[in-house]
Amino acid sequence: MISIIKQFWENNHTAKNKSILSGCKYNETIDFLKVQSFIKKGNKVLEIGVGLGYVTQGFYNDGLLVSALDISEIALSNVKKYCEKLFLIKDIESIPKDYFDLIICHNVIQHVPTDLLKKELFYCIRSLKDNGIFAMEFISTFENINDTWNENYKHSKNSLPNFYRSIDYMGGIIKECGGNYEMVVNNKCNIGKTKGCHIFHIKNNLNC
Ligand SMILES: C[S@@+](CC[C@H](N)C(=O)[O-])C[C@H]1O[C@@H](n2cnc3c(N)ncnc32)[C@H](O)[C@@H]1O
Repeated sequence: MISIIKQFWENNHTAKNKSILSGCKYNETIDFLKVQSFIKKGNKVLEIGVGLGYVTQGFYNDGLLVSALDISEIALSNVKKYCEKLFLIKDIESIPKDYFDLIICHNVIQHVPTDLLKKELFYCIRSLKDNGIFAMEFISTFENINDTWNENYKHSKNSLPNFYRSIDYMGGIIKECGGNYEMVVNNKCNIGKTKGCHIFHIKNNLNC
């Protein structure tokens, strides 16, 4: 199952048209996620889902110690020059505990099936320092549809894997994975299945 999703992303990291990778810019992303106060030289940051690497490069240029977690080996090899540590999701258990000041995840969560998401969230939340923040962008929907992998669900190698979740369901997942959260952005919209775009600031509650 994960291999089909992984192949989808590997294909898009090598495709001529990379529009599916978003390519969000550094300053806009930092402002949107409300993490400006964590941009300090020497701070350790983990970026989940690096896309075209503009944000990874921005952290590096600002003097942060950058690590990256991605499903795609090609994505990680493209940002290797900016990073002190690289993690593929199969190595998720090797992410150190109590290590990062900041974790960011932008435009990724809706593409991760819930079983894998829970695993990633647990190890990432565990890697936050006590004062660290995990800033997560989340697109909510009215109901949960296909939130876990379903063999009957029509994922072809060319279709974007999307998993739909409500705000309450996502909040429950974060708590189950050891996090406490505050919603710092709550933009409502009503386009198709989409109900809103939210930013959660998550803290590590595992050691409390
Ligand atoms: C739509 S792009 C977003 C890129 C960037 N964060 C941005 O906003 O421009 C999704 C990125 O997440 C990666 N990705 C997909 N599934 C993932 C997962 N389960 N864990 C970590 N990264 C994943 C993809 O390889 C790709 O680099």
